[in-house]
Amino acid sequence: MPFGESNPPSRRAVLKGAGVLGGAAVLSAAAGPAARAGAAPAGRRRAPGAPVPEPFSVPLTVPPVAKPARERVVDGVRTAYYDWKIREAEAEILPGVKTKVLTYDGAFPGPTIKARTGGAVYVTHTNALSTDTVVHLHGGIVAPEDDGHPHDVIKPGASRTYFYPNKQRGSTMWYHDHTHHMEAELAFRGLAGAYVLEDPAEAALGLPSGEYDVPLLIRDARFDEKGQLVFEMMDIANRQTLLVNGRPQPYMRVAARKYRFRLINGSNLRYFTLRLDKGGDLIQIGSDGGLLPAPVPEATVAFSPGERVDVVVDFSKYPVGTQVVLVNDQADSETTKQVMRFDVSHTAPDRSRVPAELAPAPSLGKPDAEREVTMSYDPEQGMFVMDGKVYDPARVDQEVEFGATETWKVVNKDAAPPVPHNVHLHGVHFQVLERDGQPVSGHEAGWKDTVSIPPNGGHVTLKARFDHHRGLYLYHCHLLDHASMGMMAQMKIG
Ligand code: C2O
Ligand code: CU
Ligand code: CU
Repeated sequence: MPFGESNPPSRRAVLKGAGVLGGAAVLSAAAGPAARAGAAPAGRRRAPGAPVPEPFSVPLTVPPVAKPARERVVDGVRTAYYDWKIREAEAEILPGVKTKVLTYDGAFPGPTIKARTGGAVYVTHTNALSTDTVVHLHGGIVAPEDDGHPHDVIKPGASRTYFYPNKQRGSTMWYHDHTHHMEAELAFRGLAGAYVLEDPAEAALGLPSGEYDVPLLIRDARFDEKGQLVFEMMDIANRQTLLVNGRPQPYMRVAARKYRFRLINGSNLRYFTLRLDKGGDLIQIGSDGGLLPAPVPEATVAFSPGERVDVVVDFSKYPVGTQVVLVNDQADSETTKQVMRFDVSHTAPDRSRVPAELAPAPSLGKPDAEREVTMSYDPEQGMFVMDGKVYDPARVDQEVEFGATETWKVVNKDAAPPVPHNVHLHGVHFQVLERDGQPVSGHEAGWKDTVSIPPNGGHVTLKARFDHHRGLYLYHCHLLDHASMGMMAQMKIG
């Protein structure tokens, strides 16, 4: 019974340094990684939780857009400097309740950084926590020393400056903690936020913009009776409160016109299949790495932890007064079926459009090398492993030649129980050639950095050109509880 309530010492050992935040909670978590992600395990009772408000009783909020401390033109490049403190704060997530959270500069989720392709960003983080932290820009093409490698920790009281050159296509990225063994808990407690890279090449397309371009960071959470966050490893069964931008199942007043929503799956373990209950398309226009070649209108959009999907929704097809619920067709309970509600409350002019062509996807050509990577749960070690091995920051798992184009076949070997995984590569964007022998569609046909891999021998083949930076980069499962329990590896590009 690999996912039972046994308590392998290795798991304790690996998490022994992890008591700084939740103390007992973290350690007891180590005792019970019970759930396979994506489904509540049979026979596990849900812990009593906080009184969560009725769905759609709390308004959606949009995280503040960060204001740079300074802006300069450096060698002809517009450069913005942000100075942030990583600190504990209280957030009103549930109405009338102050919840202790970890924040980037006081915001839950973190402030949105808006940058422009071709303009540079420096973020200086000062760690005011009592624990180490590391900041990773997920989707960013950045030098290894700026990537937030788990061994590059910011000690309590120390600062570190990350440089983001933004020499890449416009896209929806996000930043989050990446501290070795602690990323799952730290991100869960609030260390995550959106990073929107706007692209002058995109501006000409006339997509919905300004107040009609809204990031939606979707995740689950578990609260105790007092409304405090509870983190236990592999605890999806108890993470029953869905948050959008840090608000529980909120409503949003919208105009009867087109909106662009930048969906970010910020859950540690939860997959979503999103749909509008009144019918109508979610028009997929972008993926992890930016715009798709052409819009893909579909009734549902599915995505796994770490993935982003940009969609356009046209509310002009609904009469004013219509309430449109964004439902989740991959719910494991009544409470995870409804994500948020759009209340079509007024009309507004709309000159935006969704052009038939968005951004061409160049072919990467013939691969220079082919690799295979496996992902699985190792019951002996009580850990999640890649190619049979627990992550070791001192080990190089793949040597990739700089400039090479490669295909990677990534296989999910887990069958009993059938644990879903996904794979995320740092420092590169890839194209997905196939999943289980079939071509992928929708947002998965665009530039990706994270892609889901079903269990029972499911596999994807991805193709990438490693021509951005030399150095050490991670690849890992983005179910962060799995990553924290060993499911990471690293490649040396050189
Ligand atoms: Cu979103 Cu290695 O991370
Ligand atoms: Cu990443
Ligand atoms: Cu996994």
